[in-house]
Amino acid sequence: MPTEQDIREHLTTNFIKKIYAFETLDSTNTLAKSLKDIEHATLIITDEQFAGRGRQGRKWSSEKGKNLTFSIIVKPNVQRGILGLLPLSAGLAVAEAIEATASLRAVCKWPNDVLIENKKVCGILCETTSRKEGLFVIIGSGINVNQASFPDELSNIATSLSIVMNKEVDRLDLLNAVLERFEHWYNEIVEGNSLQMLQQWKAHSTMLGKPIIVQEGNTTRSGVAVDLTESGELILQTNSTTTKILSGDVHLVH
Ligand code: BTN
Repeated sequence: MPTEQDIREHLTTNFIKKIYAFETLDSTNTLAKSLKDIEHATLIITDEQFAGRGRQGRKWSSEKGKNLTFSIIVKPNVQRGILGLLPLSAGLAVAEAIEATASLRAVCKWPNDVLIENKKVCGILCETTSRKEGLFVIIGSGINVNQASFPDELSNIATSLSIVMNKEVDRLDLLNAVLERFEHWYNEIVEGNSLQMLQQWKAHSTMLGKPIIVQEGNTTRSGVAVDLTESGELILQTNSTTTKILSGDVHLVH
């Protein structure tokens, strides 16, 4: 992994104030949660995670030295109701960064997956930690950058930028692009201007207007994904009613 110094020199954004870089770590989100001196605008990045975590209690595996696995810690001064916009904006930032650095079309799948050619290229796990100074949000991102292959059980649903492009991508260039876009949307959200972010997210989504199945724990709902609310919930139209979905896994019905 590049050192903290390498990363800092590469960044063209002033957003990140503190950087922790590791060769190996259990999980950047787990470390973020356990930090005693947690600070706003911290980046934790590692070349390898041996206990990487995904959403809904799943594992996140990523080949050492090939991909991006990092967490951004922020302390947003916003009402709890709009905290759900942060994971959406992180997914959007990754999709935009991929488009800018790799010239590929990347789409957002609610709540915060990024797909290329219908396969997942990035997953985001957002968590919070409450301290005496207030609530910190940890946005953990795993981006498949240069991984050349995936295990059989994942190869139909996961891909990497290098698989799609047939060439390797500079991880620090991509990280920088993600942080630039995230800084932009973060500032908009904390200033109360989230409309443009939501519009851009919708412009990057292929699921609105389509039939979907949403799974949350043991509950499965099917309907049409019609829109997002101002705070980032998914609006599902089922027969004659509309339901706001706070979290869950979305599957497109083909
Ligand atoms: C998902 O799609 O289920 C979310 C995956 C999130 C993975 C990232 S990798 C960096 C950070 N640390 C973790 O343990 N998980 C997130």
